[in-house]
Amino acid sequence: MSKHVEIKKITVNHIKRMKNNEKIACLTAYDYSSAKLLDESGIDLILVGDSLGMVMNGYESTIPVTVDEIIYHTKSVKRAVKRAFLVADMPFGSYQVSDEQAIINAVRIIKESGAEAIKLEGGKEIAPLIKKLSTMGINVMGHIGLMPQQVLAHGGYKIQGRDNDEKLLEDAFAIEEAGAFSIVLEGVIAEVSKKITESIKIPTIGIGAGVNCDGQILVFQDIFGIFDDFTPKFVKQYARVGNVIREATKNYMSDVKVSIFPEEKHSFLR
Ligand code: KIV
Repeated sequence: MSKHVEIKKITVNHIKRMKNNEKIACLTAYDYSSAKLLDESGIDLILVGDSLGMVMNGYESTIPVTVDEIIYHTKSVKRAVKRAFLVADMPFGSYQVSDEQAIINAVRIIKESGAEAIKLEGGKEIAPLIKKLSTMGINVMGHIGLMPQQVLAHGGYKIQGRDNDEKLLEDAFAIEEAGAFSIVLEGVIAEVSKKITESIKIPTIGIGAGVNCDGQILVFQDIFGIFDDFTPKFVKQYARVGNVIREATKNYMSDVKVSIFPEEKHSFLR
């Protein structure tokens, strides 16, 4: 007899309990239709990431993304999500000025978007802020390793953990201690993320961080082959939806040009 119990709605407690029991499968989504497909497929967690700046808006980085944009996209995703746990990113500049500013923006995102948690990038320097948010009742997901919001300061996207593994471990401990329910490890050497995952009690969610994290996350447009301006090494394309769309567009165009579309069945007749 199967022991599998159907979960109606995944909560923060489910995500925490999945550590050491079941791998956590996460994806990003930014709109109603995509989120509905993921939720119906049984994905555990959906993140409305600030990666939307690149894959939805065509910016070169995540830096220009605003709180209003995160709220707008999260509201659309929220309308589709019945089961998955929903997390929204705090964009660059929305939590660095002061704790007061961070709390105002986090509360706005939670109240206006319907997200069940927020994610913010940073190590032990933001642990006091994570503690304040957690104490207020806001679920916080940490994000360490390669932090895309630091791209200007770091002069590019650099894999982490080659020479700063101790610092990453200290960051992870500080974020856990502050009350975060989970931590994203992005672009981290696989051995280092394994060590972090084994050392802390909250789940780690990896992206470019090897197989030993407690869960994995990928960007919607990357995994489905929709955004192919570039494909990072850590991405596995599970479909080539971009090619399907290009092909279908050409078929539609040629049908329109020679009046094959619309047919009678697509038309309103007297
Ligand atoms: O913005 C995002 O999509 C992210 C994930 C890559 C973790 O932060």
